[in-house]
Amino acid sequence: MKVLEAAFVKGFIRMATDGWEQGWHERNGGNLSYRIKAEEIGSVQEELSCKEWQPIGTTVPDLAGEYFLVTGSGKYMRNVEIKPEDSICIVELDDKGERYRTCWGLVNGGRPTSELPSHLMNHEVKKKVTNGRYRVIYHAHTTNTIALTFVLPLEDEAFTRELWEMATECPVVFPDGIGIVPWMVPGGRDIAVATSELMKKYDVAIWAHHGMFCAGEDFDMTFGLMHTVEKSAEILVKVLSMTPNKRQTIQPDDFRNLAVDFKVTLPERFLYEKH
Ligand code: 13P
Ligand code: ZN
Repeated sequence: MKVLEAAFVKGFIRMATDGWEQGWHERNGGNLSYRIKAEEIGSVQEELSCKEWQPIGTTVPDLAGEYFLVTGSGKYMRNVEIKPEDSICIVELDDKGERYRTCWGLVNGGRPTSELPSHLMNHEVKKKVTNGRYRVIYHAHTTNTIALTFVLPLEDEAFTRELWEMATECPVVFPDGIGIVPWMVPGGRDIAVATSELMKKYDVAIWAHHGMFCAGEDFDMTFGLMHTVEKSAEILVKVLSMTPNKRQTIQPDDFRNLAVDFKVTLPERFLYEKH
């Protein structure tokens, strides 16, 4: 099968376009990666031709030998649909998880996203804690979420609780909460370590003054998660633009009741009393 005919590639391209249409991907902002299944890479083998090995910039031994579909560095999400073979690539990792090589795509040169260390370290954590279920890592420059990192305390508790309050579905969609990475230089190992540490317990990590990372099983769940968090952030931005004080909101006991009916566990540390 041709790479561009494969269902996982079509799903990846659709997600890139959806993110662009949301306004989350100015210029080359944001990046996407998918951990390819063995049968999926087998189905496109005929079109793969691998280039030389390159250092990843970190080590991901638990991903040794795996293949990923990834956006290219400096490539625009808005172009993924019209010129996928120039904008995205399939990479293979070596047997130590230290190097990668491009086996398809980036026909006009270039390299995978500069956030490859963060994507791969997040994949490594999620593969472990979900028994291999999670396959998608998504980074976007979500406007309202970024705006909130200038006014809310940069604490997991504050972001989780405020965003849960903005829409009843939120604690059901992200019951584990949200982690916050303080401002750091992007594109390297340090921010990858900080983010993947949060991914041990959360599916969402916010990079202060930069954007968001989401992890999920498939394209629908991961895009839906990013969309839900960002919509909730948009509601909070609107509320805070009207007044610093909510007149009424969802209370800690309301969340506890919701948790029972919707069969989710909501950590008590997010259900603190406000004064
Ligand atoms: P890339 O173009 O290298 O993917 O970088 C975009 C980005 O959002 C960096 O955080
Ligand atoms: Zn970014």
